[in-house]
Amino acid sequence: MNGIDWDALGFDAYRTRTVIFSHFKDGQWSPFEATETFSFTFDPFAQVFHYAISCFEGLKAFRQQDGRIALFRPDQNAARMKRTADFLGMPCPPKELFLQMCAACVENNLEFLPPYGHRASLYLRPLLVGMHPQMQLVPYPEAVFAVMCAPVGSYYGEHLRSFSAVIPGNYDRAAPKGSGSYKIGANYASTFKPYKMAHDQGYTELLYLNSATRQFVDEFGSSNFFAIKGNKYVTPLSDSVLPSITNKTLQEVAADLGMQVEKRPVPVEELAEFEEVGACGTAVVITPISHIDIKPVLEGPEVTRVFRFRPDGEVGPVCTRLYRHITGVQFGEREDTHGWCYYL
Ligand code: PLP
Ligand code: COI
Repeated sequence: MNGIDWDALGFDAYRTRTVIFSHFKDGQWSPFEATETFSFTFDPFAQVFHYAISCFEGLKAFRQQDGRIALFRPDQNAARMKRTADFLGMPCPPKELFLQMCAACVENNLEFLPPYGHRASLYLRPLLVGMHPQMQLVPYPEAVFAVMCAPVGSYYGEHLRSFSAVIPGNYDRAAPKGSGSYKIGANYASTFKPYKMAHDQGYTELLYLNSATRQFVDEFGSSNFFAIKGNKYVTPLSDSVLPSITNKTLQEVAADLGMQVEKRPVPVEELAEFEEVGACGTAVVITPISHIDIKPVLEGPEVTRVFRFRPDGEVGPVCTRLYRHITGVQFGEREDTHGWCYYL
């Protein structure tokens, strides 16, 4: 139909048919519209360009086994965007508008929703941008909310394969009472250069520590951290990590599977005790991590510590089970006992 090889999809910005948008001005959101032009006009003084007044969400639509279309926990994304918008002093679309625009984005781009059977989905990117032209550092009640989408497969190029990570000793992601727990674009800006350096050295992910003491694990640049120790699912409790909807879901899955869930500070030294480590998030789903190196200076040659979780990078049994369960619910192959799927 549109020539897409559904099995070869990675995770890329993709030009689909339409972007859905609404404009907040004079105290209200305009009726949402669909545009096929893929371009917006912003004043060069717009808040977003100078002061990074911008935030976003990420969620997926799935074509399920029985043909139905499901969004995965979109209410959680709506609530998280509200929390982030409040942090930035921005107006935020109410939950109903958020859900309607996500649904409209899928419906307007149906030919890009991967058919069932390819382990691929339609990734939705709700984006909220401050567009008021100004120099002053004060909020202004004007914004554009847009929802765009892209058909995606695996974020790292292969499903359920393990990858390596590095702890960059000379880079932090988030200050203790800063913006780390909000999904603002600016949090990602500081990861671009370290990611490039890490990739050039053969690492796939960056694992950030808490910046106050650098003694505890925070999260990966793209996703939350979880680990398996015996019958325990362990994940960091930290004010500066993004409250991941996937992680929250996995905690419930782990509990359903009879595991003990521990959300608490995770000392770096404890990495030596984990049997499995994984990255989790909407984009990465569950990505097992084979080993983590500590590099005091990312651009330097020295590696002071290596934590290896699985021999030969093999994928652990718990990561496999959790992955099968969450993707099973998303594709409608397993019963959705918690009501996570939102049907269009
Ligand atoms: N942490 C960071 C920094 C992220 O960018 C993401 C992705 O959204 C996550 C965690 C995972 O969050 P979620 O599971 O809600 O996608
Ligand atoms: C997501 O998982 O939705 C994200 O926004 C992470 C991003 C690095 C792709």
